[in-house]
Amino acid sequence: KDDLVVLGIETSCDDTAAAVVRGNGEILSQVVSSQADLLAKYGGVAPKMAEEAHSQVIDQVVQEALDKANLTATNLSAVAVTIGPGLSLCLRVGVRKARKLAGSFNLPIIGIHHMEAHALVARLIERELQFPFMALLISGGHNLLILAHDLGHYIQLGTTIDDAIGEAYDKTAKWLGLDMSRSGGPALEELAREGDAESIKFSTPMKQHKDCNFSYAGLKTQVRLAIESKNINAEIPISSASSQDRRSRADIAASFQRVAVLHLEERCDRAIEWARKIEPSIKHLVVSGGVASNQYVRARLDHVVTKNSLQLVCPPPKLCTDNGVMVAWTGIEHFCMGRFDPPPPADEHEDYM
Ligand code: KG4
Ligand code: ZN
Repeated sequence: KDDLVVLGIETSCDDTAAAVVRGNGEILSQVVSSQADLLAKYGGVAPKMAEEAHSQVIDQVVQEALDKANLTATNLSAVAVTIGPGLSLCLRVGVRKARKLAGSFNLPIIGIHHMEAHALVARLIERELQFPFMALLISGGHNLLILAHDLGHYIQLGTTIDDAIGEAYDKTAKWLGLDMSRSGGPALEELAREGDAESIKFSTPMKQHKDCNFSYAGLKTQVRLAIESKNINAEIPISSASSQDRRSRADIAASFQRVAVLHLEERCDRAIEWARKIEPSIKHLVVSGGVASNQYVRARLDHVVTKNSLQLVCPPPKLCTDNGVMVAWTGIEHFCMGRFDPPPPADEHEDYM
């Protein structure tokens, strides 16, 4: 396993990422090219535009990952690439690149599920992390609570019935006039530190539903109404807001964050109870995905996990947001179990998808 060297490619959403990881977990390189400035300009991900942006940088990102690792493609054992879920136009850019490289250098190819990669990267960070374990995966498009029995064997305990938490962070940030040039979540986390989290009593979603599912659409509406009632104008950027205006924006940010995360805490609490009925031996809760890079989220969930005598495994922020390392590592896990596809033909026509 130590001799394995796998290239991971990730293009499911707005980041073009590649990384080279060794079978023993050593990260040889990682490169991310973000489209955040494009997103800020157009206020969201437009698939066609995102596809173009991926296409423009993919060759360069992959080359840089190989260069930084001091390798050429001939040194690789396999290529891993995200095949879903995500924007299909964007996924294709990564898959096309992976197949071209694998075809030219006669390398096996490993198709990766984006959310599985978010979960399994925790096993690269925490070598003690054995199956079975629980995972809370929180990103822009997904909110998942799973019980990971074994590689490729997952039980879904809960999912969102509408929006994911990252989407709620991004919309709230936009409505509060925050700087979106690096996505809304981090900007909102920062502003929330200035605010009073108890100032607005948003109601916690799905209190009456005694399950492990999530909902953020209702909270988004509550936030929008609060913003309207305080006459906050998103056209005025926070940097130009009066101190009183800034204060009320910070209060909304903090109050939103408190309830958004309380919803996670309540669902995790119940999911731990459920999971223990199925697998009494679980010891860890993995928290991963972009929103898991939030310090407040990490602190609150650490509390839940400790209360339940479990251990929290939360990858460092750079491995929580979309990255190539998680794809390469998940590729290694599958490769070691013999799960990969043979090299595609070197002269493959591009219309295979
Ligand atoms: O996993 P990810 O990079 O991409 C998806 O698979 O969606 O997650 C992106 C999401 C965005 O909604 C972004 O605003 C959120 O993660 N995010 C954060 C923070 N950093 C990223 N949300 C809250 N606090 C943060 N510090
Ligand atoms: Zn993601």
